[in-house]
Amino acid sequence: MADFSKNVVYQIYPKSFQDSNGDGLGDLQGIIKRLGYLEELGVDYVWITPVFSSPQNDNGYDVSDYYSIEPMFGTMEDMEELIGQCNKRGIGLMLDMVFNHTSTSHEWFQKALAGDKYYQDYYIFKEGSPDKIPTNWQSKFGGPAWEYVPSLGKWYLHLFDVTQADLNWDNPNVREELKQVIRFWKKKGVKGFRFDVVNLISKPQIFEDDMNGDGRKFYTDGPRNHEYLKELVHDTGIEKMVTVGEMSSTSLENCIRYSNPNEKELSMCFNFHHLKIDYKDGDKWELMKPDRIALKKLFETWQIGMQEGNGWNALFWCNHDQPRIVSRLGDEGRYWEQSAKMLASIIHLMRGTPYIFQGEEIGMTNTHYQNISQYRDVESLNYYKILLEKGKSVKEALDVLAARSRDNGRSPMQWSEEPNAGFTEGQPWLEVAENYKNINVDTQMQAKDSVFAFYKELIALRKNRDVVSKGNIMFLEQDNPNVLAYKRTYQNEELIALNNLVSVEVEILKESTLEGYKKILGNYKESIIKTNSVILKPYETIILEK
Ligand code: GLC
Repeated sequence: MADFSKNVVYQIYPKSFQDSNGDGLGDLQGIIKRLGYLEELGVDYVWITPVFSSPQNDNGYDVSDYYSIEPMFGTMEDMEELIGQCNKRGIGLMLDMVFNHTSTSHEWFQKALAGDKYYQDYYIFKEGSPDKIPTNWQSKFGGPAWEYVPSLGKWYLHLFDVTQADLNWDNPNVREELKQVIRFWKKKGVKGFRFDVVNLISKPQIFEDDMNGDGRKFYTDGPRNHEYLKELVHDTGIEKMVTVGEMSSTSLENCIRYSNPNEKELSMCFNFHHLKIDYKDGDKWELMKPDRIALKKLFETWQIGMQEGNGWNALFWCNHDQPRIVSRLGDEGRYWEQSAKMLASIIHLMRGTPYIFQGEEIGMTNTHYQNISQYRDVESLNYYKILLEKGKSVKEALDVLAARSRDNGRSPMQWSEEPNAGFTEGQPWLEVAENYKNINVDTQMQAKDSVFAFYKELIALRKNRDVVSKGNIMFLEQDNPNVLAYKRTYQNEELIALNNLVSVEVEILKESTLEGYKKILGNYKESIIKTNSVILKPYETIILEK
């Protein structure tokens, strides 16, 4: 297994990155046009979310053919050109493998529907009558996780949308098909893979009702999950490539196994626990102020736990499923720039491999849509209905979506002050956020102290300092709810990162001594650093080195 500790990955959501032909949808040629920008930022890998053939019910996470490109994104030639151009610039392209399920339009599922028993065994079908659903499990997008097919007299499992049927990994033919997909793309020159919800692939032998949950306890990190991952990685020879698993509601213990190099499973894992700290009673659709103490504890548990277990974290705040972090934990107003930089600093200087989601590096914010007609995401549209059914008013439901919708992360990339932020010359598929005249790449690249410039510095720091990439981590100021602070050590190098999470000044480190440390990076020109204490300004981040 290889070492990705000095690398930084940039995530592109192709539909919203750059349109090259005026149809309002981002495409592969658009990405090619912007590779110089990514090179300037200094990232090593680019992960693009799925661009395979797909009816787009879940924006490409419903794949109908893993071997062809969805026409709205371009052609196979465009894909080959993108891979070649990336390789020329020393940027590795990572593809997104959606292997837990396929679209119901996939040929396999269509054959299953037509009665072909061989292909029925590719999915999870259960015999039964229409009035008796196999289990009470809930789909992650709302509603039951089973759909009845009258012509077959069977139900099929879909943990996500009804058009995303779960694959049966217990069938060796399915596993072989998926290995072929990997081999195909590897041969084309792709340098790594992100595996979608890959800790849900192994389903239990017996399907039973969940008396106190939505069913996830039965299929999360399932019985043969590790075994199947090992087999996939081994049989396709991708041990040395960068591989990241998206782990849904996972545990530390399992993530250690997924990412410990000795296990030969994956290079690293995404987990989402730190992004549920503003869910009331764990419910994404109930708003709550972020619980900063919980955030600190989660970072500590995962950082220390993965360190002790020799696992490796994928570090991130944002992706195409999350609202924008500066809107969530920072300040979109007065301290927009400071908070965007501070949040970047937290992620980039911890132990793991950092991921930047398109637009995060220029401080993009949530969209603030005010009407349901502005939303596109299937999950948001489903939950809008569910929230109204539960008795919320239209305004309350829209407030929840404004904070929680995945479309917050999916609005078009803000390149310039031009109409539609320079994303398209046509009508964008999803509205551009109103603040694009102030927040855009052009402005950020011109300003010396921009959020963009700060990201570049953080990336450079990881490359130049072994203490950032390889150092051990320990947490400081554990009882202070307003400050997230940690110390990294490697051989004789020491680094301290101090982050003020709130909009007021905070004084810290009264007891310990900072003698011998000097500031190497921060988001304020002047910092108040005394020998025994530091006064952190609103959302200040200070990086000190010994
Ligand atoms: C992952 C993807 C998300 C998708 C889901 C189902 O969570 O990130 O966008 O909807 O899997 O494939």
